[in-house]
Amino acid sequence: MPDTWEALEHDCKNCRECSLWETRTNVVFGVGNQNAEVLFIGEGPGANEDAQGEPFVGRAGHLLDDMLEIIGLKRDDVYIANIVKCRPPENRDPLGVEQEACIGYLRRQAALLRPKIIVCLGRIAAMRIIKPDFKITREHGQWFEKNGFQMMAVYHPAALLRDPRRRPESFEDFKGLQQKINERAHPCRFLMQIAYFSVLCPAKFLHKWCFLDKNAIDGHFCVCYITTILFERTWSLSDEDCCKQRCISLLLLLLLLL
Ligand code: URA
Repeated sequence: MPDTWEALEHDCKNCRECSLWETRTNVVFGVGNQNAEVLFIGEGPGANEDAQGEPFVGRAGHLLDDMLEIIGLKRDDVYIANIVKCRPPENRDPLGVEQEACIGYLRRQAALLRPKIIVCLGRIAAMRIIKPDFKITREHGQWFEKNGFQMMAVYHPAALLRDPRRRPESFEDFKGLQQKINERAHPCRFLMQIAYFSVLCPAKFLHKWCFLDKNAIDGHFCVCYITTILFERTWSLSDEDCCKQRCISLLLLLLLLL
């Protein structure tokens, strides 16, 4: 049977695979948009997250929200999860055995989400997801390609709270993320804009002198516009509906070209 978010959340919330279940208040499963292109991965819940059952809700979480806002994203645009879903006591780093026991849930989350971009928040997530010898001070902001995902790591927001001198570097890393999202998203928007500005827009203004049919131009303009919106909407979707919507967009595009 194919996996579902409900089944995964149920399994995760009842997990007793390592000893962290004994001290947890809540399992912190993950939050965000289940169609998101970008998956953020932290190391594990802290005290606030354990109390509320949601990742990154403390001071570090607010800083993460601010960084997202700077590049035009909201929490609802991305998905946020952790390597381990239960709070390690005293906020210590999650142990290898704990990460090993929990990583299957993150793998299932990634399989359901199928993100294009993964951003590791801090050293622990980067060492687990990108490579075991990851050096956060040297390699933050660099892009890696692994298993078909584009990945990078940024400083953990809690590290930025402890050492604000690192914020400008982190700001650059988030700008790099914004650029990557723009590069990967909606390559068709560009084509549509070229079509619009080079052909339809001049035609709209010149129709009087060139004896072109204004209604036909308006019709073409509408098709062009709708196609652009449909392409943009479906580009980031990962479910099967998206396939149907892309077919409709292609049909519309063909109509436009006729
Ligand atoms: N730090 C993390 O790595 N994850 C959280 O959810 C909160 C703080």
